[in-house]
This record gives sequence, C-alpha cells and structure tokens, in this order.
Amino acid sequence: MSMLEVDQLKIWEERSGRVLVHGSSFRLSRGECLAVVGESGSGKSLTCRSLVRLNRKGIRQTGLIALNGLDLSMLSDKEMRRYRGRRLCMIMQNGMSAFDPSRPIGSHLQATLSVHYDWSRSEMEAKLTAAMSAVGLREPASVMRRYPHELSGGMLQRVMISLAIVLEPDVIIADEPTTALDAVTAYEVVEQFEGVRNRLGSAIIFVSHDLGVVRRIADNVLVMKDGEIVERGATRDIFACASHPYTRYLVSSKEALTRHYKQLMGGANDVEG
Ligand SMILES: Nc1ncnc2c1ncn2[C@@H]1O[C@H](COP(=O)(O)OP(=O)(O)OP(=O)(O)O)[C@@H](O)[C@H]1O
Ligand SMILES: [Mg+2]
Repeated sequence: MSMLEVDQLKIWEERSGRVLVHGSSFRLSRGECLAVVGESGSGKSLTCRSLVRLNRKGIRQTGLIALNGLDLSMLSDKEMRRYRGRRLCMIMQNGMSAFDPSRPIGSHLQATLSVHYDWSRSEMEAKLTAAMSAVGLREPASVMRRYPHELSGGMLQRVMISLAIVLEPDVIIADEPTTALDAVTAYEVVEQFEGVRNRLGSAIIFVSHDLGVVRRIADNVLVMKDGEIVERGATRDIFACASHPYTRYLVSSKEALTRHYKQLMGGANDVEG
C-alpha cells in the first residue's frame, strides 16, 4: 500500500475561479523520495501546502489526499494540526512565514515538539542541538535564543530541517530546502534527509530547481508546468530519455550549465552532473 496517495488534487483561487493545479495524482511508498521540478509558478508550492492544509485563505482544493489509507479530509482542523509535524512535516520555501515572529526560535521549536512527544526540556535541547549541528548550524544554543527576524532565510530553513529530523515524520515535504544554501551545506542537508529516510523509512517529497541534487536523492520525478504534471518517471529515465519537450529542455539546460562550469574550471574539477 502507498504511504501517501494523492488523487485528482485540484486547487483554485476562489475569487476568480482561476484553476492553479488541474487534478494531480501521484503516490509515494515508504522510503521513497519523489522530486517535484518545474518552472516558477507551475504549482509546486501550492501542491505541497495543500497536502498539509496550509494554503492561504481564498485558495480552495478538492481531491483525495490519503496517508496510510486515511483520507485526510476526514480530520478536523485540530486533528490536522496533530498530523502536521509528526506525520506530515513541511519545510516551507519561505522560512520566515513558518515561525512565530514574537517568540525566540527555541521556544517555538520546543512548543512544536511538545505537541507530539513527551520529552523533557533537556532531552528536546539535546536532540535539537545535534540536528542543528548536523545541518551546519553553528552555535545551536545561540540560534535558539534568537528571534526569526535575526536569522537569514538559509538559517531559518536549516532550523526547519533540524526540526523535521527530530520529529521523525512519516512524510517530509521539503519545498526547495537547499536553494538558499551553498553547495557544501546543501550536500550535508541532502545527507541528513537520506539518513532519516534510511533510518525511519520516511517518504520525502523534494521540490527543487537543482537537478544535480534531484538526481542524487530522488527515486522518481514529477515535472510540473502551468499547474499540470506533464511528465513522471524514474529519475534515471527522466535524465536519460525524457519524452516531454519541457523536461528535455530542463535537463539540457542543466547539462549546458555543467559543461560551461567545467570549461570555466579548466576541466580540473569533476562536477557531478
Ligand atoms: N495565495 C495565492 N493566491 C492566488 N494565486 C496564488 C496564490 N499562491 C500562488 N498563486 C499562484 O499559483 C501559481 C503557482 O504558484 P506556486 O507558488 O505553487 O508556484 P511554484 O511552482 O512553487 O513556483 P516557485 O518555483 O517560484 O516557487 C502561480 O501562478 C501563483 O501566482
Ligand atoms: Mg514554490
């Protein structure tokens, strides 16, 4: 059985009736990483947020979203809050909107963890500190004392990733988790996701513009364009023999960029492409 099943997910703007996602269907099994790629505005973030019922007011959705066989539309908002985090954990594209601006980061993280786990304060601190170090956040204690506006977008994103690691969710939904990071940190973050997947069998939805990272972490790929899934398949097939012209365009742009980079480096560096 699939861990997550999405069937005919349609998302539209209530006021204008404009359809933003036109009936997407996809499945994820335990331990699977599904990458979602596609140009800006193609509906990747809307799709992710609809899975955790976090789209803004004025955005409506229909269609089946089932986790381990349970239709999530049966859950009340209160029950959904308990599902968010421990069952389906979303790492937002915009870190700032995910945090309470009036609270230090540490207090926000502990409040979230205490909804799901019975850990003591010191247990939580120890787990968070270890997870933050693992994603390259230096001085975790000082990060926890700070307010969201005092951290950069990349740091907030890494804080969210640390929280996801500690929460050990069934499904991690990561919306461009490596975009704001340098290549070395992105590599460390991907390793952490792989660790969670191998340890717990968590499934991962990984939205990214970085096809190098996608190639490394994803088992399967969905390609979105204008609110539709235009192609899907195993990662190696998508990279080797995409059938949709748009996917071929994405892959060839990435290859051209890699070649250009290799030329610039005088062929001295072996770039993972
Ligand atoms: N709250 C909203 N109200 C109305 N339209 C919206 C809203 N949020 C997103 N949209 C529209 O829906 C479409 C898809 O947006 P979405 O944020 O999902 O794109 P995306 O694929 O995540 O792009 P990016 O790669 O830039 O993050 C866009 O045309 C956007 O303008
Ligand atoms: Mg987005």
